[in-house]
Parts: sequence; structure tokens; C-alpha cells
Amino acid sequence: MRAKEPAALTREEAAAELERLSREIAYHDDLYHRRDAPEVSDADYDALRRRNDAIEARFPELVRDDSPSRRVGAAPSGGFVKVTHAAPMLSLGNAFDASDVIDFYARIRRFLGLGEDEAVDIVAEPKIDGLSISLRYEDGRFVLGATRGDGSVGENVTRNLRTMDDVPDRLSGAAPAILEVRGEVYMRRDDFLALNRGREEADEPPFANPRNAAAGSLRQLDPAITAGRPLRLYAYGLGEHDGAVGETHWEYLRNLEAWGFRVNPLAAPCRSAEEALALHERIAAGRADLDHDIDGVVYKVNRFDWQRRLGNVSRAPRWAVAHKFPAERAETVIEAISIQVGRTGALTPVANLRPVTVGGVVVGRATLHNEDEIARKGVREGDTVIVQRAGDVIPQVVAVVEAKRPSSAAPFVFPGRCPECGSLAQREEGEAVRRCTGGLICPAQAVARLKHFVSRDAFDIEGLGARHIEAFWREKLIEKPGDIFRLADHGAALVEREGWAERSVANLLAAIEDRRSIPFERLVYALGIPQVGQATARLLARQYRTLPAWREAMLAAQDSEGEVYAELVDIDGIGPSVAADIVDFFREAHNLEAVRDLEAELQIAAPEAVAAESPVSGKTVVFTGTLETMTRAEAKARAESLGAKVSGSVSRKTDYVVIGSDAGSKARKAGELGVAILSEQDWREMVGG
Ligand code: IVH
Repeated sequence: MRAKEPAALTREEAAAELERLSREIAYHDDLYHRRDAPEVSDADYDALRRRNDAIEARFPELVRDDSPSRRVGAAPSGGFVKVTHAAPMLSLGNAFDASDVIDFYARIRRFLGLGEDEAVDIVAEPKIDGLSISLRYEDGRFVLGATRGDGSVGENVTRNLRTMDDVPDRLSGAAPAILEVRGEVYMRRDDFLALNRGREEADEPPFANPRNAAAGSLRQLDPAITAGRPLRLYAYGLGEHDGAVGETHWEYLRNLEAWGFRVNPLAAPCRSAEEALALHERIAAGRADLDHDIDGVVYKVNRFDWQRRLGNVSRAPRWAVAHKFPAERAETVIEAISIQVGRTGALTPVANLRPVTVGGVVVGRATLHNEDEIARKGVREGDTVIVQRAGDVIPQVVAVVEAKRPSSAAPFVFPGRCPECGSLAQREEGEAVRRCTGGLICPAQAVARLKHFVSRDAFDIEGLGARHIEAFWREKLIEKPGDIFRLADHGAALVEREGWAERSVANLLAAIEDRRSIPFERLVYALGIPQVGQATARLLARQYRTLPAWREAMLAAQDSEGEVYAELVDIDGIGPSVAADIVDFFREAHNLEAVRDLEAELQIAAPEAVAAESPVSGKTVVFTGTLETMTRAEAKARAESLGAKVSGSVSRKTDYVVIGSDAGSKARKAGELGVAILSEQDWREMVGG
């Protein structure tokens, strides 16, 4: 069954789908980042993320706390030490309207067996849009600080947290011998905007929202960087403890203050659902005037003895709920619709808005996604529209206010030619995007590709940011990747440039020299071939090992009936669509030229040699059926680390088929072709361990 289009989902379906996507994407993130053994292609992974984003854009109030769009990226390599939380860090169930809140109270009454007239006191406090952390104090001293991670295991960020004013190093007064304080690290909106201004000036990518800025600032390997960032903390929760902390949440909050923490001044006790709802309304009304983002109000049962009795359902407490706010909206006018051209030539329409404040942030632009979106919403230049912000600074256009449409407003005609280079802009059957066909003669594409080439996961050239690339392009100093490595030839001209001194030129040239030797997989990724992300680049590098071997193979793979093509699509994780993009890339003479030119400048390091004495080195292995002692991902990672190629299908080239229980057609085919069949046990004996 095909998945329903996001536009066709009901709210209930959307909520269920977001939950599923969150789990599935987390699973693939784990395979990719922690086990280095992706199971899906980058393109399939990106499709999952896009689906998640599209559903969230339609139902911003359903955005989950564990949404992939909110997840903080993988730890930097050589990252943080893991910390298992002494008490798990839970998440919260959501309430969207008054009836959900009444249900929350009813559930509590039922569970505790309380009468209708018995009051359930709660404390209501703003739900801060930041990242939650746990701070452990032993004998009043701060000893360990961790991020939430997956709730059970987080990352040790003690040294970074120590740099924050709001994290006391020692507790004041009499404190419990052991105390874990939970709270939210966040950034104020004005601090966030100032930080982003500084980043743009320094040619660094801006953060999308204050929450990402806070997370990115806390998860720095160098605490000196965290120290320079304006991070704040509100304390609101309790983890493991040994000693008196109060009988109620309210008492606990007062104790937190006495121990030296900042507690949200808007937190207030409520004696009934009516009081809670009234407070929710008041906090919602004042939301835009706060200096930081909040996305709801959390209600917590006040009595700790009741909290203990109520306990948890799955990973959320029965004694608390988050009453979310609707996404923040505002009305403004679309002054113009402009078209941006990306690295792969995709034309993206952008609405230039009359600046408007949405939830405390001034916005001037909104994405319109693509041609069909414009048609679906009927957006025209000059239209008054409703825009909404769901945490991010770039808002969405929700709807047109047709009553306010000026009579001069004509339907928007999507250009058939690229606004940057005038080449034809084509739309493939079944695709939502229209693309410029100008390739490298299109300045927008060329510049975007160069920016990708020097970006962090590609060549990562320090000091050569997006704005430098644009300037060097205009001056014809860098027109293709190889030119970067010949920049030193223009040393004298560089020093003449405005705002540049000998020292900064020397630094830049040194940074470039530093990247002259590059791992092959980074080079593959840096080329910016559509659908070839880091995971696919790694697969290609492992398979072909050197640039000449890869190039020869991709040229031969133009014959889609031939063996070389078969070998390409046989790589687990590369399907026909990705293969077509790679082959097409090498079909273009100017791409080949640019790659050869670059090759002459570099020393390219083949992927780490794998143990040659391994009995499976160089062999092609297929796993099939349910394995008992390892997951499929583990099996694949282990085989690859021993130098084997893992394939998804059995052919004459397969050396071994490892079969688990209920293995089906692949085992049969192996039998037919006379390929060696191993049980899981045989395999383990062969590779050891
Ligand atoms: S209480 C078991 N209180 O919301 C209680 N959480 O979905 C769990 N959050 O990860 C947390 N403000 O990051 C609580 N005043 C507040 C909060 C708050 C923000 C976040 C927190 C947590 C998420 C729960």
C-alpha cells in the first residue's frame, strides 16, 4: 500500500504517522551514526525526513518532542562519553484542547480512586522550547551533567555546563546528599538573533531557531566555545535523590531556588482544571512578549506521594501532561515571489513578505516549496496571507486571505527558464521540482556546488565560507573545485583585497594546503552528485577504493545491461535511481573535466585497508533470513570491517550466502547457482567471534 500524501492525512493519522516516522528515522540514524552500517540509501532516508517535515508543516501542533526535525545531530566524531541516567529522563504526553485536559484530570481521579469533589492540585509551568539536561550533585557539589539523549543514555557535557552562570557549582544551604536536578537549557530570542548575526558575518551557517542554537552551543567539544554562548537554564524536575526535597512539586521548586537555581517565575499552583485552563490562556496570550520560545504549558500533579502512585505509562509520567499551544500565526502581504536555484538546479519559490512579527520573531521570508504548492494554495504576488512559525525562524504560508486580494493580483506563472542563467527549466514526470538544465554554466548551481564542496562534511576548508566562495567566483578566481588548490598562485592579488591582510591570506592558504590530502569518501561526497550523501559516498568508496577505478567503472556502467552496472546496483543501499544519477554525472564531459582537473591537485587516500588475512576479505556475502545472535546491521558491519562486500541479492558473483531461520528465495537461488551456503554458526566460526 502506498503511503497517503501528507495533504490527505487526518489529524489522528498524522499523529500516528509522525510517531512511526520518528521511530523509523531514529533507527536509521543509529545504524548510520553509531554502527556505521546504513540499511537504506540516502535518497530513501531523505524521503522519510521530507515526509516527516511535510506532515509537521501541516500539523505544527503535532510536532513531537522526539521529532527527527528537533533531534540534535550526531555527536561530533570522538564525541562525548555516554552517561546512563540513574533515573530515566521521561517525555510528556500531549493535550491539545480543554477536553484533553479534562481527560487528564479524569484519568488521575480514576487511577487514585478520588471522589468528584476531592481537589487535584497541580502546578502549571511554561514548557520551554530548549533541551533538557540532568545535573547531578553529590554533597552539594556539581559532579555530572548530561543531555537527555534517548532518555536512558545521554552524553556527558559536564565541562560545558560548568561554564553556565545558571548552573551552580555548589548548592547553597542544606541540600540532599545526592540530588539530580532536571531542567531546560535555552537561549533568549535576542541572544539568538545576535549570535546568528555574528555567524553570518563570520560566514558560518546560522542556526534555524533558538533551540538548535542552544543545543549546538551545549554540544561543543571545546567548552570555551560554550562559555562564549548565552545559555540559560530553568530548573523544573527531579531525578535520583537521597535526602529531603519537599513533599510537593511546589515545595521542591522553592527549594531549587534556595539551592541557587533559577525557577520559572510563571510557574503557579492551580486547584482545578478551570484554573489550569485559565492560566494556560494567560500564558498563551503573553507568549509573544516573553524573551524566549515556549510551546505549551506543563501541568504536574503537585503531591509527590501521588506522583509516585501514578507512575509512568511507557516513557511518560501519568502525573504530568503538556498542554500545547497552536503554532503562532500572523497576517502579512507577499510583496514578491522569487526563485532560488540550488546545487542540483532545483528551482525553489520563496515568498518575500512584508516583515511581520510572528511569536516574537520578525520574519521576512517564507518558503513556498514548489510549483504545485503555489497552485494548491493559490498564492499570488500581492496576496495577504496567514503565515505560521512552528519553532523555526523560516515560517510557512498557511493560507491566502482571498477577501483581501488586490484586483491586480494575477496567478503566479512559474518560470520555464532558469532566472540565473536563462537555460531551460524542466520538470521530469512524477517529480515535484523543476530543474535548471544549465549545469555548470549556471552560476547559481556552480556557486552552490562549490559551497557544498568546501562544506563541513566535504572538504571542510576553514576560512573558506559561502561568502568567500561567492566573491572568488565573481572575481573568477575560483570557478571549479581544482581552482581552490591553485588559489596560492593569486597570493599577491588576494592580499590586495579589501579587508584581507597577509595573515588572513596565509591562514586561508594553509587551510587549503591542509586538505590537499583527502579521504576518498569525502571526495566522493564533495562532488555533490544528486542523491549521493555521506552514506552512499562511503559505500562507493569502499567498493571502488580509488578515483580512477571508480571513474572507469561509472563510464562502463553507462551500459545498463552490462556487468559493471549490475555490480553498481548490487551494492546494498544503491538502487537504480541513485545509480542513474551517478552514471549521468560521469556522462557529462564538463564533470569529467572538472574531476580530472581536481585529481591532479590532490592526494586521495583509499578507505582504510582491511585485514588482508581475513578469510572473507574481498568476498561477496549475502545475509538472508532471521539471524539469531546478531542483528542484520551488526552482521553487515562486521563483514565489511573484515573486508567483505555485503550484497542484497544472490548472483554468480556471490561467494557466501549466510542463512538464518526462515530463509526463503535467496537460499534457494544460492542452491541453484551452487553458491556456498553457511549457517549463522558456520559464519561465526569462519570469521571468529
Ligand atoms: S517535565 C517527567 N517541565 O519537555 C517530566 N518538561 O516532553 C518530564 N520541557 O524533554 C519533563 N519545559 O525538554 C517538564 N517545565 C517543563 C518543561 C519540560 C520544557 C521539555 C523537556 C522534556 C520535554 C518533555
